[in-house]
Amino acid sequence: MCGIVAYIGHREAYPIILKGLKRLEYRGYDSAGVALLNNGMKVYKKQGKVADLEETLIGKDLHSNIGIGHTRWATHGEPCDRNAHPHTSKNGKLSMIHNGIIENYAQIKGELIKKGYTFQSDTDTEVLLKFIEDIYVNNEGSLEEAVRIALKRVVGAYVIVLLDEDNPDTLIAARKGSPLVIGIGKGEHFLASDASPIIEYTKEVVYVNDYEVAIIRPDELILKNLGNEKITPFITKLDMELAAIEKGGYDHFMLKEIFEQPHTIFDCLRGRLDASAGTITMSGIQQYAEQLMTANRIIMIACGTSWHAGLVAEYIFEELTRIPVEVEYASEFRYRNPVINKGDVIIAISQSGETADTLVAIESAKEKGAIILGVVNVVGSSIARTSHGGAYTHAGPEIGVASTKAFTAQLAVLTMMALKLGYMKGCISEKRYMHLLNELNDVPEKVATALLQKDAIHEIALKYKDASDALYLGRGYNFPVALEGALKLKEISYIHAEGYPAAEMKHGPIALVDDKLPVFFVATKDSFHEKVLSNMQEIKARKGKVIAVVSEGDDAANALVDDLIVVPYADELIAPIINVIPMQLLAYYIGVAKGLDVDKPRNLAKSVTVE
Ligand code: AGP
Repeated sequence: MCGIVAYIGHREAYPIILKGLKRLEYRGYDSAGVALLNNGMKVYKKQGKVADLEETLIGKDLHSNIGIGHTRWATHGEPCDRNAHPHTSKNGKLSMIHNGIIENYAQIKGELIKKGYTFQSDTDTEVLLKFIEDIYVNNEGSLEEAVRIALKRVVGAYVIVLLDEDNPDTLIAARKGSPLVIGIGKGEHFLASDASPIIEYTKEVVYVNDYEVAIIRPDELILKNLGNEKITPFITKLDMELAAIEKGGYDHFMLKEIFEQPHTIFDCLRGRLDASAGTITMSGIQQYAEQLMTANRIIMIACGTSWHAGLVAEYIFEELTRIPVEVEYASEFRYRNPVINKGDVIIAISQSGETADTLVAIESAKEKGAIILGVVNVVGSSIARTSHGGAYTHAGPEIGVASTKAFTAQLAVLTMMALKLGYMKGCISEKRYMHLLNELNDVPEKVATALLQKDAIHEIALKYKDASDALYLGRGYNFPVALEGALKLKEISYIHAEGYPAAEMKHGPIALVDDKLPVFFVATKDSFHEKVLSNMQEIKARKGKVIAVVSEGDDAANALVDDLIVVPYADELIAPIINVIPMQLLAYYIGVAKGLDVDKPRNLAKSVTVE
């Protein structure tokens, strides 16, 4: 899940590419590189962050109106200069960047070695480039033709962009599985993995589809399929402002996105939930109301934090709609050969809308006749375009690698869906429906109140920043919140943390408890409260450090805890959206206290576009 950027036009390419790579750095930061045409092909690449590359290029003649750039998340070949992109052809005239994985690269490499090709890197990308070169130099055809022929042999996922010294007014690009957006300007074009590097130059974009090849010149964009048939580009207008992808005075995108949640949840509810009228309007779902109403089961498919949102939604959907729900890890679901019946409803949850595991899982379920409803944040993303219907979460661009505002927006959308469906099915009374509608409507304000606890949470974070392990416990609707708390701490602070249903402790994990282990409880007032208090007793009895998130006015846990975090009370079904806020802030403050890059944690990337 690398970041790719390219430019062709009348402006200086390098500054546009450099700025774009910095915007996409959340997609991978193992190495960075650019290639420009400046009296021939000039390729510059360096292990590390984009800033490290920039440092090495100060003072160099980087003039060019055409160029390609890449920021890498290593898959094939360790992070080092040699494996950094762009890669160069044997004759030095072609340069290429790639996001994705070529699964049959070893076989192709074997064939090329027999033809006398040698390789400077361990990457699948260099193999694909030299495969294209071999076809190009041995066939009379154009580079574009060689690319189409080569891609017919390739197995895997890719976005590639090629720069050709002999065709200095043309870029060639192609896509399958990984995302590619092309920005349309006046006498110029911008290419990127998502819209964030393009937004400041143009709002007119084309989302390239699978198996499409793009031939890009300053004044021309041609799209073709691998069969050489022309395709009319479908231009979309971006509905995003530059400010949305700036830090806005916060130290980190993660902190900004945590504090944006009162607004992003409000934006997510706006125009959909009308508490005074007692209505929920979700056009992208209502089209499939019949299938949902008669569904024998609902399957939630997702990864990571989105999977945790699916787990909370399982509790809510079963409670409100009485439809059985299964929550599946996309990567396991895809290869488990699951039983999919015609009419099964699948809800695919994804912030980026580009997570390969989730994308390929829903593509295979769709082939088997399932209805796919997407709950997605990135507009125009692959999962959104692959789904039959669905709802956007409207959380705005999420730059911090650790998902925060997207999670709470996912919960808001999923709760609205379950409420609407439960009410339509007559599974819940008018009174309960209106109660939950108003509870949901009050969430933005309650989240704002929970955020006021930031200083107290910061204090607690400083107390536990040197822990080597941590446990997160919750029951019922709060169990997935505990899982999410543990994931945030792992991602941001590199502290080993596990989330568990609180009652599950007795069946093994309690052996980990001693006076050095912080145990974070999500213990807000709900139908599991008494049970959670006794679980707290069990931890205290083993001298564990208990940190509890409790509801305003509830002092039942006071005697049991070492540290307390108070949040506004909400109905147990709605509470997870509020209760996760302290979890996000704890992880953030511990990560910062440890001096770590909380926006770009090691080994991670924002959108995992490879399986
Ligand atoms: C969460 O903080 C992580 N970034 C990761 O687990 C993420 O949730 C997962 O990769 C799924 O991403 P998606 O929602 O974009 O599909």
